[in-house]
Amino acid sequence: MNYQASVNRYQKMNYRRCGNSGIQLPEISLGLWHNFGDVDDYDNYRSILHFAFDNGITHFDLANNYGPPPGSAEAHFGEILKRDFANHRDELIISTKAGYYMWEGPYGDWGSKKYLISSLDQSLKRMQLDYVDIFYHHRPDPDTPLEETMAALDLIVRQGKALYVGLSNYKTSEFNQAVAILKDLGTPCLIHQPKYSMFERWVEDSLLDTLEEQKVGCIPFSPLAQGLLTDKYLHGIPEDSRWAKPHGFLNEQYATPDKIEKVKKLNVIAQRRNQTLAQMAIAWLLKDPRITTVLVGASKVSQLADSLQSLDYLIFESTELAEIETILHS
Ligand SMILES: NC(=O)c1ccc[n+]([C@@H]2O[C@H](COP(=O)([O-])OP(=O)(O)OC[C@H]3O[C@@H](n4cnc5c(N)ncnc54)[C@H](OP(=O)(O)O)[C@@H]3O)[C@@H](O)[C@H]2O)c1
Repeated sequence: MNYQASVNRYQKMNYRRCGNSGIQLPEISLGLWHNFGDVDDYDNYRSILHFAFDNGITHFDLANNYGPPPGSAEAHFGEILKRDFANHRDELIISTKAGYYMWEGPYGDWGSKKYLISSLDQSLKRMQLDYVDIFYHHRPDPDTPLEETMAALDLIVRQGKALYVGLSNYKTSEFNQAVAILKDLGTPCLIHQPKYSMFERWVEDSLLDTLEEQKVGCIPFSPLAQGLLTDKYLHGIPEDSRWAKPHGFLNEQYATPDKIEKVKKLNVIAQRRNQTLAQMAIAWLLKDPRITTVLVGASKVSQLADSLQSLDYLIFESTELAEIETILHS
């Protein structure tokens, strides 16, 4: 079946400026870490991409290692891009990353120029693209000089293989150093991608203020704590959940009984707000204007539909915020 994009897709979404750049991003973006690999169902993930774009999601986030197996999410995304979105390439912001283990030997991991340049070349081939819109260094490398990693990002932009660069998982001090190097090179950092949700708050210590000062955008990943901050696990572990899957990254080390108790209490507040917990968790991030876009995952169209409804109500009473803090700190 041929895909025809919804004609009123841009009326359904708000877009926020990313730092002081020319780029605006949808309030919700879609990540392809899970649910788009060889182990997943083609028709299902194709429908998720259609639904996303039909609802104004213009930003799709990938990485070299997404799958499983690593690389397969990029390959599937590339196939669908060619099949369904060929006429829409200029409406899309596509990102990929390198920084985690990808291939054997000393050149397939971390942050050397050798790794980043080769990895992006592989990603472009898999996605059948000439360039990506954003290329990220996926995590800081303690052993490669920051100057080398940043020079690789700068080179990638100069070669036209990426339009912008981003940093992910960088703590505030290393982020500041990296941003200064990139500025000197003439390739500003567009965006930072940290883990941030009600359960992961480290960015509040100083990173968010720094991003505002540096005029860099912020795209929090795993805003639903991989599904924990939804109503999914209120009554056990469903068979079709990330937690139940052997290749899922959610497990009992992270999803402790204490967290599940908090989820139950947070769910009561969400219900009072006439939201699902997923909607409240996304709205809770977007209430802060320093957040450019929230990077969700989805294993079904219905989940993305649910998450998108968070955009209808982003306001929190101060009493609700206080109640949420009490639960999170209990
Ligand atoms: N930079 C990095 O180091 C890094 C690391 C991790 C992720 N990321 C990026 O962030 C993206 C999102 O991460 P994530 O997948 O962990 O995000 P998430 O939004 O916290 O979790 C997504 C999962 O939550 C469940 N879910 C989503 N919407 C739901 C809803 N409305 N109701 C009930 N359950 C719902 C689904 O789990 P089920 O599969 O169980 O249905 C879905 O797969 C990734 O795809 C990737 O692009 C980046």
